[in-house]
Amino acid sequence: MSEITKEIERRRTFAIISHPDAGKTTLTEKFLLYGGAINQAGSVKGKATARHAVSDWMEIEKERGISVTSSVLQFEYGGFCINILDTPGHQDFSEDTYRTLMAADSAVMVIDGSKGVEAQTRKLFKVCVMRHIPIFTFINKMDRDAMDTFELLDDIEKELGIATCPVNWPIGSGKAFKGVYDRSRREVELFSDTQKGTRMGEVQKLSIDTPKLDGILGEEARAKLDEEIELLDGAAAEFDQELVSKGELSPVFFGSALTNFGVETFLRHFLDMTTSPLPRMSDQGEVDPMTETEFSAFVFKIQANMNKAHRDRIAFMRICSGEFTAGMSVYHVQGGKEVRLSQPQQMMASERKMIDKAYGGDIIGIFDPGIFSIGDTLTNAKERYVYEGIPTFAPEHFARVRQMDTMKRKQFVKGINQIAQEGAIQIFQEYNTGMEEIIVGVVGVLQFDVLKYRLENEYNVEILLENLPYEHIRWIENEEIDMDRLSGTSDMKKIKDLKDRPLLLFIHEWSVRMTLERNEGLRLSEFGKS
Ligand code: G4P
Repeated sequence: MSEITKEIERRRTFAIISHPDAGKTTLTEKFLLYGGAINQAGSVKGKATARHAVSDWMEIEKERGISVTSSVLQFEYGGFCINILDTPGHQDFSEDTYRTLMAADSAVMVIDGSKGVEAQTRKLFKVCVMRHIPIFTFINKMDRDAMDTFELLDDIEKELGIATCPVNWPIGSGKAFKGVYDRSRREVELFSDTQKGTRMGEVQKLSIDTPKLDGILGEEARAKLDEEIELLDGAAAEFDQELVSKGELSPVFFGSALTNFGVETFLRHFLDMTTSPLPRMSDQGEVDPMTETEFSAFVFKIQANMNKAHRDRIAFMRICSGEFTAGMSVYHVQGGKEVRLSQPQQMMASERKMIDKAYGGDIIGIFDPGIFSIGDTLTNAKERYVYEGIPTFAPEHFARVRQMDTMKRKQFVKGINQIAQEGAIQIFQEYNTGMEEIIVGVVGVLQFDVLKYRLENEYNVEILLENLPYEHIRWIENEEIDMDRLSGTSDMKKIKDLKDRPLLLFIHEWSVRMTLERNEGLRLSEFGKS
């Protein structure tokens, strides 16, 4: 195996998905702590100020003290080189959050044990399923009163439609939380708050057959555990690596990120079960990083406005194969020419740093003079293949947008098109009404503010946004369908995208189902082709 292949093989690139407040940041921070990347918990996010340091990129971020961008963190643990892709939540949820998942080889889903599956997890989960990547579940906050464990698993299976396989099992929760039982090792890891004290904490493990355990757990908890293990062994899915790899079975772990409990156990199992960088589909078949020696990458995110004066941007790319060296020349397939990749950057714990080398599986940010688009391929392979594009994800908020000063139509159209090309917003038009009005769709409402701000600051155009009540968009998969004869619901609106492809907007989700029922053969999709 060459040095490059060895480097790639030890890489693990995954995204963390969750609903806000489930503990994603805390868990990430603890991973970094184990990896020795940070010395102190709290460095990833010490509320608004520390987060500033991570991505002090856009004016709007500074103003609001939030992070609009997703960041990538790299650290070493147990011989692995780990890349964590953070998916921002709250109001900074955007299409980039979805796109980030396109760059990951697996996902870790963090669930709050007292809440079960929540809205944002559900949305992000759909993208993981579409990609068939392995999904691992960490049920967090077990030091607080949690839902019944069987109910939690049932919730995941029903809500998300994925089978679960508990790798460990919690013994109580909240004040009565005693630890977790490792099913394959038949060992109990006793709960202790290892947040303070030594870095690794002191983990005490006891065989389930140790008589001493009864006294530690107490009669009631012991009896309950025995009963649950018996039920579990009879009812739960067996661990099956193949199903895990295909994203059909999610290994489940329990713990408490805040108190460091179960975090390292999870990390160890996860690293065993997850994969090194996966092959990627291109127009010339699969490109496998274990056999393709040339550098190749695709752009999954463009971060605009790093410096207002220069309108420069950073293109984030996922390296799919080979080795990257700073300043190297690469063929940009969509642009049809060689480009020099300069100012490569990577996130390291809480700061950005310049790098000179990176390998398949890594994510790098490259200075972009405005030549890259989302989904573009860069490669030095002779074949010059093109990686499969990145789908367009469903916006959930829509507004009609007009420029205040009609004389500025040209700047307005230019600005809005550029911002759309960067992937911050999607633009649509009325279908067949002859009206030139532009409808903007965004995944998170903050994107409306970003649009307004950027048009004013960069293009000197003031706009008016009129919110529209639609929340659900569907692309029509069978484009041959006669749009004029389509029988929809009263809350449905027909629109088209910039490539004249028809789409449907709905206020209510049930209208989507009704429209499908009324039009035989109609196929609707939540993902658009790029
Ligand atoms: P997020 O990134 O998913 O949004 O969640 P984050 O890690 O910021 O955690 C949200 C809140 O939940 C934080 O409390 C955090 O300390 C707490 N938390 C995370 N993991 C656990 C856990 O295992 N047990 C318990 N009991 N709490 C947990 P906060 O008060 O909102 O913020 P902070 O003041 O602690 O920063």
